Amino acid sequence: MCGIVGYIGKNLVSPILLNGLKRLEYRGYDSAGISILQNGQILTLKKAGKVAELESLLNHNDYDSKIGIAHTRWATHGEPNDLNAHPHFDNSKEISLVHNGIIENYASLKKNLTERGYYFESDTDTEVLAVLVGHFYIKTKDLCESVRLALNEVTGTFGIVVMSSNEPNTLVAARRGSPMVFGIGDDEFIIASDASAIIAHTKQVIYINDNEMIIVNQNTFHTKTIYNEKTDNKIHEIEFDLTQIEKGGFPHFMLKEIYEQPITFKDSFRGRIIQKEGDIKLGGLRSVAENLRNSKRIIITACGTSWHSSLVGEYLIENFANIPVEVEYASEFRYRNPVINKDDIVFAVSQSGETADTLAAIKEAKQKGAIVLGIVNQVGSSIARETDAGMYIHAGPEIGVASTKAFTSQVSAFILIALYLGRMKNISKSDGMRYCNEISLIPDKMQSILDNAEAIKEIAKHYSYANNFLYLGRGYNFPVALEGALKLKEISYIHAEGYPAAEMKHGPIALIDENMPVVIIATKDEIYEKVISNIEEVRARGGKVIAIATEGDENIKNYANHIFYIPETLSFLTPLLAVIPLQLLSYYMAVELGRDVDQPRNLAKSVTVE
Ligand code: AGP
Repeated sequence: MCGIVGYIGKNLVSPILLNGLKRLEYRGYDSAGISILQNGQILTLKKAGKVAELESLLNHNDYDSKIGIAHTRWATHGEPNDLNAHPHFDNSKEISLVHNGIIENYASLKKNLTERGYYFESDTDTEVLAVLVGHFYIKTKDLCESVRLALNEVTGTFGIVVMSSNEPNTLVAARRGSPMVFGIGDDEFIIASDASAIIAHTKQVIYINDNEMIIVNQNTFHTKTIYNEKTDNKIHEIEFDLTQIEKGGFPHFMLKEIYEQPITFKDSFRGRIIQKEGDIKLGGLRSVAENLRNSKRIIITACGTSWHSSLVGEYLIENFANIPVEVEYASEFRYRNPVINKDDIVFAVSQSGETADTLAAIKEAKQKGAIVLGIVNQVGSSIARETDAGMYIHAGPEIGVASTKAFTSQVSAFILIALYLGRMKNISKSDGMRYCNEISLIPDKMQSILDNAEAIKEIAKHYSYANNFLYLGRGYNFPVALEGALKLKEISYIHAEGYPAAEMKHGPIALIDENMPVVIIATKDEIYEKVISNIEEVRARGGKVIAIATEGDENIKNYANHIFYIPETLSFLTPLLAVIPLQLLSYYMAVELGRDVDQPRNLAKSVTVE
């Protein structure tokens, strides 16, 4: 949530900050702002709305400045207006600060500072931190020390970058619970809330740790904790290229990412399948292989789309490895005093690796003594670093706010884990080989669905009048129904509910009439006949049925108003295929309704606040 970028170096800063904000805009787009040093003073421009609004304010003026900070906001405290936009200042207006996170004790700090005569112009928690830094600066006359003292007063989370007109060659940044990456370029340094704002300058980065500060001057930098302890940091190399975070000819990132799935899925199992042994190799889990094999229960915790893929994971692991699995919303897990036994293993699943609820759940599980394993996309992210071991899904950067390719790659991770555990237990080599072979056929099957996307576009046009949708699926495809409904809600703002198909008759059936389109995943498997009965129940009440069916199924034509066929595969692999038409349906529906697909209202890509 919120994008932050700071720069100090040889180049003019305002175009660099603006480009950085454009790359980070998917993290929040309520307002944007910039502070640069101009003629010895801080010049700040900020505006409610998207980065484009700020860009018009800058009006192609490149200014003669080589140091600055910038921010694109996802509002937590205070409505998204010009005044609440970042950067914020201390009362002297000599210190400017951008912030991602929440200062939980801002009210008491504000009261205290007000009693000392300080004033506030915005409703934000961030301004309180800026004023507090200014308060300490009066005594210390040292920006780094003032930031450090202020952060010691703060409870909550922060990723901040601070500058001062009194120290024109210094940027100070720090983090706790909000990501911060520091890029080391050629005579330039760039610091940002994620690597996508850095990659155009350098691939050499340091991931700042919790409670760590980085003090950056023109040619040098050093780190320490906010408690004044020395720290050492490894330099990492960013693993993706600039082209991967560009639209590459697609009108939206979401569509590009949907179309990337044949490749990203392949990347998720590359080097992990041993076809001739019918076995799976998971290097990242080797150190905990015995714990996994002997575990009495697996708990999976995640949010949103990652929670949906975890549900598929539950079905897979129970089926193939015969280990009981529970899937928990990370936001609930932390607060309900969960029972965690000695031999339980906890998996945390996250695309961004920065979701605050999931991070909090990990801390809770660790505190209760569990081994916590990560299934994460973003390399070097907080969740990847907080977990004891894990696996990356290798989906590459996902920029579209609606998660798509991460879902199929997360499901892939669970397929691999389930088969890995299953092969240790009761899956035969020949079954293993058959499963591995089917997995390797999935990318081409995904591609054939994408080649037929026009058919989904037509269906979207046909149903764009509807205000409500029901999504139904059974077995492995129940979580896919949930995911389809979430996608539609997120980007087209149409109300949609996902249900296990058979559960419909216990309530939601009351909603069905001729205005209610019902999307049903009715692929040919052991429960096909039961799903057909559920379709009959919808039809009997005038509901319109859009069926996702298996190629060659002629029978379904007797029941559905619209059909989209997907290639046949083993039933446990169908979520990988069935989800793609649902992603496309939500995409085309949103386009049809003129929605902002990549930046839907009220949302942000990674939710780094609880
Ligand atoms: C999905 O389309 C979402 N935008 C959202 O639900 C997301 O999946 C959720 O916030 C979890 O994010 P994570 O995978 O980065 O932890």
